[in-house]
Amino acid sequence: MRALLSGLPVRPLGRQDAAGGHRRCAYRNAGRGVSLPPLPGPFWLIGCGNMAGAMLDGWMAAGMDPARITVVRPSGKEVGHGVRVLPVLPEDEVPALVLLGVKPQKLDEVAPMLAPALEPRTILVSILAGTRADTLRARFAAPRTIVRAMPNTPVRLHKGVVGLFAKDGDRDARTLVQDLMATLGAAEWVEDEDLFDLVTALAGSGPAFLYRFIDALGQAAADLGLPGEQAARLALATVEGASALAAERAESPAMLADRVASPGGSTRAGLDILDREDGLAALLKETLSASAQRNRELAAMTQGR
Ligand SMILES: NC(=O)c1ccc[n+]([C@@H]2O[C@H](COP(=O)([O-])OP(=O)(O)OC[C@H]3O[C@@H](n4cnc5c(N)ncnc54)[C@H](OP(=O)(O)O)[C@@H]3O)[C@@H](O)[C@H]2O)c1
Repeated sequence: MRALLSGLPVRPLGRQDAAGGHRRCAYRNAGRGVSLPPLPGPFWLIGCGNMAGAMLDGWMAAGMDPARITVVRPSGKEVGHGVRVLPVLPEDEVPALVLLGVKPQKLDEVAPMLAPALEPRTILVSILAGTRADTLRARFAAPRTIVRAMPNTPVRLHKGVVGLFAKDGDRDARTLVQDLMATLGAAEWVEDEDLFDLVTALAGSGPAFLYRFIDALGQAAADLGLPGEQAARLALATVEGASALAAERAESPAMLADRVASPGGSTRAGLDILDREDGLAALLKETLSASAQRNRELAAMTQGR
């Protein structure tokens, strides 16, 4: 996976200086030392299901001011944290920042109502998978800055990945978005929108692929005789520990694997199976390829409407 990601033209985010006079929470994430930037005004979340809800939880844990936030969702279901929830758009304020967090197929239901409420200074961030910047721009003319963001669910623990893409917009607005996302984990700009579908497959869908791997690791041990629950527990703990160790080491995961596997040893015997020509690398390439292709198909469907 790292090999695939290293082929992408991405820019990691550096720490941004604090704007003078504003409250900044000294929250630090994943050792990257990124603090939560001050919101420039009202922040609306349009839709707050699994993904936007995970982002909100991450920001609230990092110290975001709930008085600045409004969640808009048809159910009006509470989100906690003291955040206002409305079933329709607020009429008492103009948003400085909007996170569009509905399903892509809801875009054309939401856009006609939302677009008139936005001003040129409003920053629009969309997490809609497969919905391209031009598709958003065609529906939202006013905002100078539209950013596509592709988060994954570990953002709730500030251990997420957020891919970012913008075609236009203010530099300060982009910096604000990157600072906000960097509090949720590893946030990186993707310079070619055509590669965003691949980032979506890698980071957006990646947790699901890894859950399958953890499950398969435990299941394999169970099939070979270890009690099922114990096998599942040890598989999860092994992946968690190995991942944490890999994150803090300078060597690549490939080098770490070779370091664990001495020639003729038992780890090498197992790696020889994974490393076969039709083994793990081929399987993951096929997995990401199928997922990215589906993202492209969904994008074509959204654009076609
Ligand atoms: N799930 C992931 O791992 C993931 C990863 C990356 C990106 N995404 C993207 O995130 C977006 C949301 O996915 P999800 O999994 O979070 O979906 P979800 O759990 O079904 O949440 C959808 C949200 O949209 C709200 N909604 C529906 N119609 C609305 C309307 N007319 N106005 C305002 N809100 C409306 C729903 O409100 P109620 O709660 O009131 O029903 C709900 O809060 C998708 O575009 C997806 O591509 C998801």
